[in-house]
Amino acid sequence: MRILITAGPTREFIDPVRFISNRSTGKMGYAIAEAAIAAGHEVILVSGPVSLEPPAGLFKFVSIVSALDLLEAVQRELPDTEALVMTAAVADFRPKQQAHQKLHKKATDGRDAMPTCLELTPNPDILKTIRPLKENRIFVGFAAETNDVISSATDKLVQKGLDLLVANDVTKPGAGFGTDTNLVTLLEPNQAPVSLPLQSKRSIGDEIVRFLERKHPIV
Ligand code: PMT
Repeated sequence: MRILITAGPTREFIDPVRFISNRSTGKMGYAIAEAAIAAGHEVILVSGPVSLEPPAGLFKFVSIVSALDLLEAVQRELPDTEALVMTAAVADFRPKQQAHQKLHKKATDGRDAMPTCLELTPNPDILKTIRPLKENRIFVGFAAETNDVISSATDKLVQKGLDLLVANDVTKPGAGFGTDTNLVTLLEPNQAPVSLPLQSKRSIGDEIVRFLERKHPIV
């Protein structure tokens, strides 16, 4: 199977030196990529800026910065794949204006000043945007939640038209951003949620790969 995996954060630049982002390190997505490669699949990894080395044996590595870059990369790479795993932590908003020069505290010499109130504009929801391209592909999403985990994740499962939603409560010790382990609940349409014990991100990757193989048996 050829699997498209997204990982890491996006950065939404305010000016050439400042950006809005989040705490994703890419560990979860890279662990899924390693699991899929080890199971003999072809992996296209689309990654935001992280300090990890791309796993050995990738079919293709694509580096992106912003949510708009990520959308473009997913739209470009998806047609040749059988499955998509969206682990990337996508910034939902970006600054409405992106300055081409560093913004200073005070406006001087024709330079703009850093606004004290930043105007934001929504980024596209990538999973919703590409939903018409799903066809018989398997779509897996993640949900980073801090409260009402199951109900929020169930809403995302339905609204984003996913085959599997992996929910993580990012407030729990050993779970979420930057850790080598994660604590996840798997949600499939019309099935009871399945909570997995705390375990390495790599073994959660193995679990997700087994899900993809069950949905798309290799003949
Ligand atoms: O990278 P690590 O440090 O290992 O951390 C792992 C993680 C916490 C980032 C990962 O486990 C995780 O939860 N990833 C998804 C984070 C996220 O963006 O969750 P969300 O609930 O905001 O989004 C739900 C789903 O929609 C995700 O699959 C996301 O990729 C996707 N999305 C979100 C926003 C957007 N504009 N477009 C999207 O497609």
